[in-house]
Amino acid sequence: MILEPEELILYRKLAGVLAESLQLDRLAARSAQLVVEAVGASVCFVHLVNYEATRIELVGATPPFDTYRRRVSLGLGDGIAGWVAQTGQVAVVPDKWSDHRYRYLPELQGERFRTLISVPMLNPSGTVVGVLNVHWQRDDVDLDHHQEVLTTVASFLAGAFDHAILVDKLAAHERALEGFAQQLIDAQEAERRRIQLDLHDGVLQQVHAAYYRLEAVKAARGLDENEARDLRVASDLLRASTQAMRHLIQDSARQVLDEFGFLEAVDTLANSYPDFTVAVEDRTNMLVNTLEATRALATLRIIQEALNNAWKHAGTARCELRLATIGGDLVVVIRDRGDGFDLATPTTTIGIGGMRERARIIGGNLELFSSPGEGTLVRLRVPVTPAVIEDGASTES
Ligand SMILES: Nc1ncnc2c1ncn2[C@@H]1O[C@H](COP(=O)(O)OP(=O)(O)OP(=O)(O)O)[C@@H](O)[C@H]1O
Ligand SMILES: [Mg+2]
Repeated sequence: MILEPEELILYRKLAGVLAESLQLDRLAARSAQLVVEAVGASVCFVHLVNYEATRIELVGATPPFDTYRRRVSLGLGDGIAGWVAQTGQVAVVPDKWSDHRYRYLPELQGERFRTLISVPMLNPSGTVVGVLNVHWQRDDVDLDHHQEVLTTVASFLAGAFDHAILVDKLAAHERALEGFAQQLIDAQEAERRRIQLDLHDGVLQQVHAAYYRLEAVKAARGLDENEARDLRVASDLLRASTQAMRHLIQDSARQVLDEFGFLEAVDTLANSYPDFTVAVEDRTNMLVNTLEATRALATLRIIQEALNNAWKHAGTARCELRLATIGGDLVVVIRDRGDGFDLATPTTTIGIGGMRERARIIGGNLELFSSPGEGTLVRLRVPVTPAVIEDGASTES
């Protein structure tokens, strides 16, 4: 088969459009433009069948009608485009005013065009993906030739739209998951806040009162040596409990996260433990600045729990906190060289379980290594870049 020069140009342009982004709206706009140029038409509307296969929706058009994209839809069988979507057949209409299928939509200014060809975009399994509706202002249109060209173009575009629709569905799914993760993290934060307030207004005040009572008794005369020692131990314990509770309630890292960002919040956290050194080694690159808010908060909470555990249980005065970015992920390692513990021993506590749950919600991966006498290592890997597929619009020339 020998191709005419204009056909070659058309196929080259078509190849360009097909190789374009998989982003649906962009593909629709480029396709409309290509069709108009290919057949010298006045306007092209690109309709796609909706996911429920009940209607067609305008997803792209040549200017000025592009402003109506996603705002016009037709039932299957409604209007000429609806008929084409329903039957999978081409409609060649020299004069739409004498065609009973035609339906006038004021916003699409049908009065300006008389001649139209409407072609289905059929995927390889014969399902209608969408419809190209092509209008001319002129009357002297070679409808037979244009019908042939448009049918060919539509069959190529159908494949591209099929892929773009799939990507669009995946992106919508990702967005829904991200929203869900955010709701879960928000709910956990609200619960945390409630517990902090309860602690502050209830238990903390009571422990505080008990501490002052003991101090008063300690000062009283007539205590023997043993009684005085027991009281001292009890009052030291109460003071340590008050400190631990204040530490829990304060949550200054959270405030710093909101105001200054993730790395500053990690620093604040690391410096918040009395008599406990957290040696921070930060090898992250600029990428970490784009850590999305829900992930940043959940990551901070995971680090916080790992540090709390090292502080409370490791029996050492020091631990290391290393941050790095590896292949688009943030990797956090918290390591202590303290007592360690047996990971196989069942617990009724919620700290480690909460860390795992948060990691799962944000699409991260948490690993724990520990054994008695060997210290403990917590390793968290979190994707930094949003999972939602980008539309690449910024690369448009
Ligand atoms: N870094 C660590 N060093 C030594 N033991 C640890 C360390 N981290 C955890 N553990 C052990 O694992 C247990 C479970 O930890 P987990 O964080 O789930 O509970 P918790 O800290 O005791 O209580 P909470 O539910 O308030 O966090 C701890 O009680 C402790 O015995
Ligand atoms: Mg804990």
